[in-house]
Amino acid sequence: MKNILITGGAGFIGSHVVRLFVNKYPDYHIVNLDKLTYAGNLANLRDIEDRPNYTFVRADICDFDMMRRIIEEHRIDGIIHLAAESHVDRSILDPFTFARTNVMGTLSLLQAAKIYWESLPEGYEGKLFYHISTDEVYGALELTDPEGIESPFTTTASSSEHHLAFGRKFFLETTKYNPHSPYSASKASSDHFVRAYHDTYGMPTLVTNCSNNYGPYQFPEKLIPLFINNIRKGKPLPVYGKGENVRDWLFVEDHARAIDLIFHKGKPAETYNIGGFNEWKNIDLIRVVIRTVDRLLGNPEGHSERLITYVTDRKGHDMRYAIDSRKLQAELGWEPSLQFEEGIEKTVRWYLDNQEWIDNITSGDYEKYYDRMYGDR
Ligand code: NAD
Ligand code: TYD
Repeated sequence: MKNILITGGAGFIGSHVVRLFVNKYPDYHIVNLDKLTYAGNLANLRDIEDRPNYTFVRADICDFDMMRRIIEEHRIDGIIHLAAESHVDRSILDPFTFARTNVMGTLSLLQAAKIYWESLPEGYEGKLFYHISTDEVYGALELTDPEGIESPFTTTASSSEHHLAFGRKFFLETTKYNPHSPYSASKASSDHFVRAYHDTYGMPTLVTNCSNNYGPYQFPEKLIPLFINNIRKGKPLPVYGKGENVRDWLFVEDHARAIDLIFHKGKPAETYNIGGFNEWKNIDLIRVVIRTVDRLLGNPEGHSERLITYVTDRKGHDMRYAIDSRKLQAELGWEPSLQFEEGIEKTVRWYLDNQEWIDNITSGDYEKYYDRMYGDR
């Protein structure tokens, strides 16, 4: 029996990781530790909450004494750390919360694990601290490649050869950290602490840096679920700046599969980039989302295009993110399972079929936050 602590398991990606582990590994005991901030929602895990190999604990990762107690009480062998403040726009309004949770919270978890694992006769043998991070720590890439060819290729051909053509630049595991937003600065800092615990104390740690995720259970402040919900309600679609920024999108279940593979087969002290060679300019992606929602709602083609509303750009808005994940492909054989069009169709269907889920969380405090963000635009 292995005891695995997954932090942030009530959030978007964490809930997919918890579900995968609980279903796939009946012999593991999965402890989901989450503070249940605005982004944490136990409704994301209704289908597995009664399983005998699953325990939920409500706690704040910044509470060091509590982290020590939980790790010791459940005799934790492995940690998959996803708990974080994760939205760039919120980090611009409230950077302190990001430093507290993402930096101090990660440190508190690292130190609690260190004390427990060092107290065992076997020490760090068979233990792993796996930290989930983002490609945003690498900074931003240019929109055009050295030959002046504009990114991205918005085609369905998502092969790496296609995307690596023309000498275009991608984030590699060796790319120097250069974060710009308070969110990415806090994630970069936590990544450094995780590596420092390996280099200083010999703790087996791993870091992965993934591109933008999309799929079911994502909080509707992020681009794709926000826009699906607004189209459904006939509300404006706030496109930042000119809509030319590029993001590299990965279906969340493919990220969860990569986490499973890396947790079991990855080499401690290594870093792996995770991404699907799937870059989209925001405005092109938004048009795909509009087309899909309109089609599934039975609206005439182009019906919701009128909702596109260009608004003031995000402060310090990174132009382009693009991940080169060939190391993960070559060393561990991981590949994304879905073409983007398929993933978007699945995602839109899920949000349209689960309107109650979204209506429950887009009320109260969240509405106030939303008005504060967009009210004066
Ligand atoms: P999310 O905001 O949906 O979920 C975060 C979860 O962490 C929530 O359940 C929240 O309640 C919990 N949490 C927040 N503060 C906490 C605290 N102090 N103590 C305990 N729990 C706390 O985030 P997500 O999109 O699922 O991202 C998960 C992780 O993956 C984050 O570390 C994020 O940086 C990373 N990541 C996200 C993406 C993406 O596109 N969403 C891409 C790459 C990496
Ligand atoms: P987001 O989902 O917040 O992810 P991230 O900032 O971590 O990449 O945003 C994705 C892209 O969409 C980003 O370039 C900002 C842009 N965006 C909008 O244009 N309008 C919006 O309302 C939101 C939330 C994002």
